Amino acid sequence: MTDEGLCIDPTKPSIARVYDYLLGGKDNYAVDREIGDVFKRDLPGSVAIAFANRAALIRAVGEIVTTTDVRQFIDLGSGLPTADNVHQVAQRHAPESRVVYVDIDPQVLVHGRALLEENDRTRVVAADVRKPDDIRSHPDTLELIDFDRPVAVMFSAILHHVNDEEDPTAIVRYWREQVPSGSHFFVSHFRSGNNPETLEAERILQQTFGRGRWRTDAEIESLLDGLEILDPGIVPASLWRPDTVDNRWNTGGERELTVWERLIAAGLARKA
Ligand SMILES: C[S@@+](CC[C@H](N)C(=O)[O-])C[C@H]1O[C@@H](n2cnc3c(N)ncnc32)[C@H](O)[C@@H]1O
Repeated sequence: MTDEGLCIDPTKPSIARVYDYLLGGKDNYAVDREIGDVFKRDLPGSVAIAFANRAALIRAVGEIVTTTDVRQFIDLGSGLPTADNVHQVAQRHAPESRVVYVDIDPQVLVHGRALLEENDRTRVVAADVRKPDDIRSHPDTLELIDFDRPVAVMFSAILHHVNDEEDPTAIVRYWREQVPSGSHFFVSHFRSGNNPETLEAERILQQTFGRGRWRTDAEIESLLDGLEILDPGIVPASLWRPDTVDNRWNTGGERELTVWERLIAAGLARKA
């Protein structure tokens, strides 16, 4: 994908902009807010899911930089800039951290370049996560990421936008083979609860975007095949290490989660 071919279409809803709307952002159009309002009406937990997801991502970045020597991140399906982006969290603890943001949405490229490329250790790449080789060989990736050193590959709320026939397992495997031992893989993913809420959420997403696959914990685990899944495993995102260094967005902990909050899972894995 070339930057020149990118074109923002304000008449069609975009996953990135609807998610931005649910998180309370301003980078969205009427068409995105319309779909966002359908989610809020028919899936009253949508906002809670978005926040639980984002909070788990932030905690995971904090955990990675404070408990490992990984200082480089590839954030796949990074979304529009919001509060506490990956490089801000990582560089808060380890200023030398480098982040390559990747997204297919042209708006992410436009806003991301303005807001995320705030230092020479961050880049925004327009690419399709289903074409990992394009990302791996992109000049910005090659400039920032040293593939001889451990990398954190972040799959935050992106693999559920990859349908089964597009082989999400092969995408994770590709990155596993590209990075050295000690690399980490974060995944957050729509979590199938085998309940009416899951079915309704899946129906609305498929109808709107033609994608959106809820997977069971076992299916999510199998996406991480060949990696060591770290404690506490694949769990509802709000229960993933709630008490870490970066828990300012903490949404979980000990309290009882709603059925909605259980619809998003998170986990961290390591390449041995
Ligand atoms: C729900 S948002 C997640 C944003 C962020 N990772 C987070 O967890 O807060 C999903 C993002 O994935 C992007 N996306 C969807 N399909 C993609 C693809 N095939 N390649 C790259 N990005 C994609 C969307 O544009 C959107 O920005």
